[in-house]
Amino acid sequence: MDTNRFPQGFTWGTATAAYQIEGAASVDGRTPSIWDTYSHTPGRVRNGDTGDVATDHYHRWREDVAIMADLGVSAYRFSLSWPRVQPTGRGPAVQKGLDFYRALTDALLENGIEPVVTLYHWDLPQELEDAGGWPERVTSDRFADYAALAARALGDRVKTWTTLNEPWCSAFLGYGSGVHAPGRTDPVAALRAAHHLNLAHGKAVQALRAELPASARASITLNIHHVRALTESAEDVDAARRIDALANRMFTGPILEGRYPQDLLDDTAGLTDWSFLRNGDTDAIHQPLDFLGVNYYTPTLVSAATGEAGHHSDGHGMSDHSPWPGAGHIAFHRPAGSTTAMGWAVDPTGLYDLLVRLKADFPAMPLMITENGAAFDDYVDPEGEVRDLERIAYLHGHLSAVRRAIAAGVDVRGYFLWSLLDNFEWGYGYSKRFGAVFVDYPTGRRIPKASARWYADVTRTGSLPERRGETG
Ligand code: FCB
Repeated sequence: MDTNRFPQGFTWGTATAAYQIEGAASVDGRTPSIWDTYSHTPGRVRNGDTGDVATDHYHRWREDVAIMADLGVSAYRFSLSWPRVQPTGRGPAVQKGLDFYRALTDALLENGIEPVVTLYHWDLPQELEDAGGWPERVTSDRFADYAALAARALGDRVKTWTTLNEPWCSAFLGYGSGVHAPGRTDPVAALRAAHHLNLAHGKAVQALRAELPASARASITLNIHHVRALTESAEDVDAARRIDALANRMFTGPILEGRYPQDLLDDTAGLTDWSFLRNGDTDAIHQPLDFLGVNYYTPTLVSAATGEAGHHSDGHGMSDHSPWPGAGHIAFHRPAGSTTAMGWAVDPTGLYDLLVRLKADFPAMPLMITENGAAFDDYVDPEGEVRDLERIAYLHGHLSAVRRAIAAGVDVRGYFLWSLLDNFEWGYGYSKRFGAVFVDYPTGRRIPKASARWYADVTRTGSLPERRGETG
């Protein structure tokens, strides 16, 4: 068997998110989301960057679709901006917002690129946050209404839907450590938010199924953490178990198995009695899915308390507040080896191990890598080229890991490179470049990097090129 070749029909894609690329923040009826408010709050985002203009994709989308056609991708994962489609998060849709996504999806389909729509990539309408946000149960109902409205408007052309992107980040970075919008730092609010995001997912899947033809596909994307213990000591192994519960099983438990894990409930019992979890909730959350979306960048290495207090950084930004309710004492370590510009360790074995574990835990669930990629300090050289060889090496290593997992029997259906374009990297603003295509922000000019040409070769051949010095 050719170990570099991917299965026939494997989906090759690329991914973005609305707030990170669209710009046009107050155009055509769009109202602020929590990320507009957060990024406009001094001190929150590096360099005071905001998504007001971003890559101006809202106006340059035709060019971006043409770039995707050159990349040879068969699918494009993007998110709808909730406040562009349904300003304030309630009531009817705005025609201009829908028109934008209709035109975009039409252009994608004309180019043979399947639109893969994420309903929520972190841009909660500010008015819903003002009414309590994700810690309040009613937000899950607002989300189900919005899902139904989006499905009615786009269901004739969009077959593949994802409810939420990385609800762990929405809940625990948004309401726990505060390094993401809305920037609250309340561990109980974070746990409540996580539950209501799960509930929102379940209600949205039901709404999607009610509106869409039976052939439509529903999914969720989780940033499953590949958690490793620093040593084999009982304390470190237990630290890894705790983080695995908060990071992963908090979501896979109710979503894929219909219950919250008992150890998670026990670990957090000192913080909350979980009375926000009502009868019937886990049944509502536990909906059949067509695949599970997995985002992977780097593994998570933890140990038991070291006595250090205070500062928490596990790759998402610095805060005096932990994003891990009831586990703030656990220490996070940077694994050995090279790192990306985010300071994240480059470790494709983490992806392989994660995929094999998911297969063992959920044998019947097809998987899709909905994000993988890396930030490096890219620049345009005097010849006008962006020679991002480190990114090529990163992608090659991780795609090899995916290929090996498939050979080991894991049902991986596709891979979406994060990201199509350099973009607004949340709390890091424009300082981190994840794109296969370089964006010159002052002019908006797009310059495909060497990795874009490399990826186009992969998507066309369905196969990884031989690397010099590699024996297979
Ligand atoms: C993920 C997010 C995505 C992007 C990458 C680098 O957590 O889903 O929007 O910021 O990280």
